[in-house]
Amino acid sequence: EDKDSLKMWIPIIINFVMSIGAYCVTVKVIPNIKDKFIKANLFGIDMSKTTSDKIPEALGMVTGCTFLITMFLFIPVPFGKSLWEGDFPHNEFVELIAALLSICCMLLLGFADDVLDLLWRHKLLLPTIASLPLLMVYYVNFNSTTIIVPKPLREHLGLSVDIGILYYIYMGMLAVFCTNAINILAGVNGLEAGQSIIIAISIIIFNFIELSGNLWKAHQFSLYFMLPYTATTLALLKYNWYPSKVFVGDTFCYFSGMTFAVVGILGHFSKTTLLFFIPQIFNFLYSAPQLFRFIPCPRHRLPKFNSKIDKMEISTTNFRYSDLSFLGKTVINLFRLFRLIRWQEKNGYVVTNNLTLINLVLYYLGPLHEQRLTIILLVIQILCTGLAFVIRYPLAHYFYDV
Ligand code: UD1
Ligand code: MG
Repeated sequence: EDKDSLKMWIPIIINFVMSIGAYCVTVKVIPNIKDKFIKANLFGIDMSKTTSDKIPEALGMVTGCTFLITMFLFIPVPFGKSLWEGDFPHNEFVELIAALLSICCMLLLGFADDVLDLLWRHKLLLPTIASLPLLMVYYVNFNSTTIIVPKPLREHLGLSVDIGILYYIYMGMLAVFCTNAINILAGVNGLEAGQSIIIAISIIIFNFIELSGNLWKAHQFSLYFMLPYTATTLALLKYNWYPSKVFVGDTFCYFSGMTFAVVGILGHFSKTTLLFFIPQIFNFLYSAPQLFRFIPCPRHRLPKFNSKIDKMEISTTNFRYSDLSFLGKTVINLFRLFRLIRWQEKNGYVVTNNLTLINLVLYYLGPLHEQRLTIILLVIQILCTGLAFVIRYPLAHYFYDV
């Protein structure tokens, strides 16, 4: 008993200490390296400021690297002892290595996107490819593709169903979703890094709760990733917070999404991971008409900066109602019916807000200062984590034997 708890806590504590180190290093490195990014033509213009300074972009590369280095240095910690005691746990080791390979691969592909500005269809393809090592190791180590049926459906389906290959498709799609969902809830200073930290901390809390259960190993595994991830991202947020000195880039969004998908899949809590993505799921569904081009989607949908009042306002898209497909008309009418969009008509054109959660918040609350807007969106994210825990613990009893 006692020895077991030591075995559980010592690597976590070492990981925690290393994470603090990673934070300190990242905080030092970012300001020193950011001008090099501008020199390499990796910069963006902050569209919500009056100045048009070059802001270094894709700094997620730095946190990605400090994260990976921390992980590489950490690898011997949980495995060191078995090296000289024999019975080396090859399956656990390969899990860790494959997880890092997937994350590393996503970091590379995200960086490629920042440098080359890839097309939409590639953004769907990249995470699928990067998740292959992960799925492979899942196949070799577990290959458990049965899902537990929720209580109300058991009469018809039985206790569990084996969904076979569908389970792998689901896991691949999870990676695609996590990576892109963070990337499209973006455009105000500090939001990408801020939401990612809240998701990461939610996962950490969940892991700590579950450490006392039978599946503690899976949650310990997840903590190995989440602690250094959170530490390095906090360092990034320090510079990405309003007014941004650096932008995180798609590199960061992909890297983050993949890290969450990896711990969710290998930790066997992918449904709970998705619960921490409630605002992102909403934003994705709400965005769908624009993402699938039922209504026009401009290159940037971030809110519009009004320099006169120093506040952010709704950004809009316009179209002729008659140009829409049947599906487009249906969806837009539903949104209008439920007051989910601002609708205006101007000389034959319909003008609506761009379909993002950010614009929706501005629609309801009116123009807001950029920093306030970020804070409100992050508070929504935190409230949704609260909701997620309610669903995961008290409510889940009605559907599963947990
Ligand atoms: C996604 C969104 C896009 C949004 C963009 C903002 C979709 C389908 N795509 O595109 O609507 O406009 O993110 O990140 O929803 N920027 C700022 N302030 C910020 C962050 C970014 O002005 O706080 C601007 C900068 O010019 C920066 C650029 O956004 O260079 C980065 O955009 P990028 O990440 O390339 O856009 P996408 O991820 O393709
Ligand atoms: Mg982006």
